[in-house]
Amino acid sequence: MSKTIAWRSPSNIALIKYWGKYGRQLPKNASISLTLENAFSETHLQYEQKNAQSAAGLSFDFLFEGKENPNFSARIEKFMSSILDEMPFLKDYHFQIQSHNSFPHSAGIASSASGLSALALCLTQLATEIGYGDFTKENFKEKASYFSRLASGSACRSIYGGAAIWGETPHYEKASNLYAVPYGESLHPIFHTYHNDILFVSKAEKKVSSTAGHQLMEGNPFAEARYAQAQDNLGKLLTHLKNGDIHEAGFIIEEEALTLHALMMSSRPSFVLMQPNTLLLIHKLRAWREETKLPLYFTLDAGPNLHLLYPSEIKTQAQAFIQSELLPYCENGQYLADKVGQGAFAL
Ligand code: PMV
Repeated sequence: MSKTIAWRSPSNIALIKYWGKYGRQLPKNASISLTLENAFSETHLQYEQKNAQSAAGLSFDFLFEGKENPNFSARIEKFMSSILDEMPFLKDYHFQIQSHNSFPHSAGIASSASGLSALALCLTQLATEIGYGDFTKENFKEKASYFSRLASGSACRSIYGGAAIWGETPHYEKASNLYAVPYGESLHPIFHTYHNDILFVSKAEKKVSSTAGHQLMEGNPFAEARYAQAQDNLGKLLTHLKNGDIHEAGFIIEEEALTLHALMMSSRPSFVLMQPNTLLLIHKLRAWREETKLPLYFTLDAGPNLHLLYPSEIKTQAQAFIQSELLPYCENGQYLADKVGQGAFAL
């Protein structure tokens, strides 16, 4: 008889960027992200104990939005194989995994953070339900974050509501390189309703995978200075996030986004992931901010799309500006309105 476990897990947007890794998916610097609400994946894991005649080894079928997807299947296979030492019981079951996203796959939003954390949550729940090893209800989130990290680095931050920190730092004692820890409760209330609207400058596929991007940091002449800057920026940002210094926080957040792109531009080979309209929108946004003094800031992921950050207090003004001045420069005038969310939950 088969049983099913299902989780919804959101995407997250980094304010201090993780870019550069070593060893088994360990970060070269600590990062912090906001957990999103509307951009999420839902994964259903149906499992059935194999019988004595079944083939040994991992056994699963995977459907993404109802269809086979060889790329995603290969990624899942790689992930599940990589954790067999820690979850050897995975070989005892046959799995049917189904996953879908709340956002269109081609929208230029990375789905690995939400999709793979949802799967890691399902597997961690299975381990907990069967009482495997030291898996308990008490360490559930930490374990789920640990396995999410092994699946896809920054995915480990998606587990918790509000905000999450991943990576050791003197600025936050509880932080670890192995899993993310929640920071939501320390956020000033102004950030609890923070919006993150993703403006689609271009929905084309990413030109460089994050795996390749992290590797390029190994030869980057600015790498060490970057890791020191990230450390320093994290310390300052944590203070601003706690005190509600929204402009001070915004300056650091923009610096982080532009540094991430500067690192890609200064790598060998070099990548320019911004499009002309990315820069145009940045200039427009900064001019509007200068004029209105309102706290509208941006961040970028490893791509051309602009993430706009603002508190709900200025929602009316910010959205009117976005609609009239920015959307005309987006692909088909499209954007995705999102905001800080509650974190992953079981369905
Ligand atoms: O988790 P990865 O390996 O896809 O790397 C993510 C890197 C950035 O999205 C650019 C920054 C971050 O911290 O999320």
